[in-house]
Amino acid sequence: MKTFKASFSSKTTTFWFNDSMLSLPARLKGERLIFVTDEQVFASHTRLFKNFETIVVPAGETHKHQGTVDRIVLQLIERKADRKSILVGVGGGVVTDMAGYAASVYMRGIRFGFVPTTILAMVDAAIGGKNGVDVGVYKNLVGTIRQPDFLLYDFALLKSLPHEQWVNGFAEVIKHAAIKDARMFSGLENTTVAKLKRDKTALASLIERNAKIKIRVVQADEFEVGERRLLNFGHTLGHAIENELALMHGHAIAVGMVYAAQISSWVKGFAQHSRLVTLLEQFELPTNARFDLDKALAVASMDKKREGNTMNFVLLNRLGNAVVHKIPIDDLAAWFRQV
Ligand code: GLY
Repeated sequence: MKTFKASFSSKTTTFWFNDSMLSLPARLKGERLIFVTDEQVFASHTRLFKNFETIVVPAGETHKHQGTVDRIVLQLIERKADRKSILVGVGGGVVTDMAGYAASVYMRGIRFGFVPTTILAMVDAAIGGKNGVDVGVYKNLVGTIRQPDFLLYDFALLKSLPHEQWVNGFAEVIKHAAIKDARMFSGLENTTVAKLKRDKTALASLIERNAKIKIRVVQADEFEVGERRLLNFGHTLGHAIENELALMHGHAIAVGMVYAAQISSWVKGFAQHSRLVTLLEQFELPTNARFDLDKALAVASMDKKREGNTMNFVLLNRLGNAVVHKIPIDDLAAWFRQV
């Protein structure tokens, strides 16, 4: 087990890497823990929840809405959770986003922490304090920014992760490499999902490296007025097609990254487009999708990255070096059409 502490504006979050979920009561001695998980995680790891108070919600992005958060809040009331209780979200990004949101609004805010169970949640979704729910096709339109007290990484939980979810998570790993870490990008070019599944040490160190990239970016700009926008690479189009086509998040942003890389080559002279496409393919991710461009543009126009008639769009100068570029929405539409 390795402890790492990261300070944000309102609190210091403790990261326990390479730990066991069952050590939580000892780590948080004397505290009342209430767990939130989804039906899939609960079914795969029922034994782990045996001695814990647990709220189980339906699994999947289609349940990431206010109604599910209301169910969590009602259960907290039924269980007489008070302001000292700690809510622990155990699951992928859908669970951690909703658990963080429910904890942020219940009694105007109780403490919470996460045990991420997917690669995607470990490297991205559970880190950063943004939580919330979708509203129809609009991803994460309602929520708060509030940091968790802790994240516990129990790599044994990955044993039950379906292969497609491994692939899904590596889209965010490739994104981190593309925007921030050219050396990690080269390292990824020499491996595959299958190799990482076998090599637990390499996997643990890759997850920790990615978690720390995300932590550093969030520390530099917690409320997303500058640097943090870089994490949205591939997400403008990605979010616009994700719910529309019922794609997995990683698949949607892989397609979004390919579009953004193509636009980067026109606007910034980015010359490594084919390396990005090849790496995405090597990690079994899609690099194109059939979608209705007008519908996608309509959804993108409600994106949180929009400011008036311009979009804060992330482009690459080169691998490992990204920049936020303000693009008029009309130009963006024209570029998407050309790609
Ligand atoms: N919860 C994801 C983030 O804060 O970016």
